[in-house]
Amino acid sequence: MADQKKLRSISDVNDLEGKRVLLRCDLNVPLSDSLEVVDDTRIVESLDTINYLIAAGAIVIIVTHLGRPGGKVVEELRLGPVAKVLEARLKRDVLKLDEAIGVEVEAALGGLKPGSVALLENIRFYSGEESNDSSFSAELARLADIFVSDGFGVVHREHSSVHGVASYLPAYSGFLIDKEVRALSPIVEGKYRSPLAMIFGGAKMDTKIGVMKNFVGVADTFLVGGALANTFLAAKGVNVGRSLYEPNEVATAIKIMEACEGSKTKIILPVDVVVADSLGEDVGTDCVGVEEVGDRQIFDIGLNTAENFKSIVSSSQTVIWNGPLGVNKYEIFRKGSDFVLNSLVEFEGVSILGGGDTIDCMKAAGFESSDFTHVSTGGGACLEYLSGLELPGLKVLCR
Ligand code: 3PG
Repeated sequence: MADQKKLRSISDVNDLEGKRVLLRCDLNVPLSDSLEVVDDTRIVESLDTINYLIAAGAIVIIVTHLGRPGGKVVEELRLGPVAKVLEARLKRDVLKLDEAIGVEVEAALGGLKPGSVALLENIRFYSGEESNDSSFSAELARLADIFVSDGFGVVHREHSSVHGVASYLPAYSGFLIDKEVRALSPIVEGKYRSPLAMIFGGAKMDTKIGVMKNFVGVADTFLVGGALANTFLAAKGVNVGRSLYEPNEVATAIKIMEACEGSKTKIILPVDVVVADSLGEDVGTDCVGVEEVGDRQIFDIGLNTAENFKSIVSSSQTVIWNGPLGVNKYEIFRKGSDFVLNSLVEFEGVSILGGGDTIDCMKAAGFESSDFTHVSTGGGACLEYLSGLELPGLKVLCR
């Protein structure tokens, strides 16, 4: 496996003046129903590389996806709203194109002066993107002299604008990828301060299982919340009532618990939970022991569980968190995550957060990325990196 922290970085390139740079960002930001950007974290995190390239006199051609249009044009997923925020953040004009490849795009880009910025249309409007089609990659590569990859959130995808294009152009990492890899690589390499606690939340086992497997016997504690915990509770024979859980993953949960038992990793499940008859902001709730769920639904961890999590966080040196501990869309079911987030902000060790929903929790609790050691812009990419996998979008940037 390639050493994924030995990347050819854009900072190693000397003369960028007048060079056409194809810059892959992950500007896949959430949009409101009225198509406004709701959270521009990923745009902001991409600015360092864009500004660096502008200052170096490059012609910056940004390529990104937005959503999952599935290889065809979806009007609501055009990049107009993204271009607007990008212009505001960069405080300069951005030439927003209505296509990503072809003669018209080439002609429009041909008129750009050094230090200009263009944004290609949503690259996932083209079927060649996700199939990593070589002629599509070659056509994309025709637009530029070099390729800079800076969309950490998408490096786990073997797509044309992430992977294929690197076969046709000299390829380098941007500063965001460099920063993410600097923050995450010590964790996978075991070069962190112990004890290590890993908090897992959210609903789905399949996105977390790789990381859990990679860290059984390595991490000191797994703290499990969210609907994920319901699957573990069900695996222990606890009645989870009408709560969301994954019956098909019960066997996996049993395996993980057995593996933890034979290792140094302690797995901590909720001892109490917040239950209600249905979801909503104004529903009646109770905090009950996990044995007392009855036919109700679990929507958050309880206070005793949050206190347990807090005390483990406080006695750890490194904490990694992925996934909300309750239904974070509703304020009343966000209290467990809020409580643990507060303990993490006070904590003086290394704190790493990953995943879009975790960032939503962080923002809803009024915190910023700067309150933690590192907040990853990657969801799946961050989890796959922590699973110890080789990511196609990093492999092509390795020295
Ligand atoms: C993300 O939101 O995690 C990235 O932008 C990747 O998106 P994808 O899961 O649609 O590939």
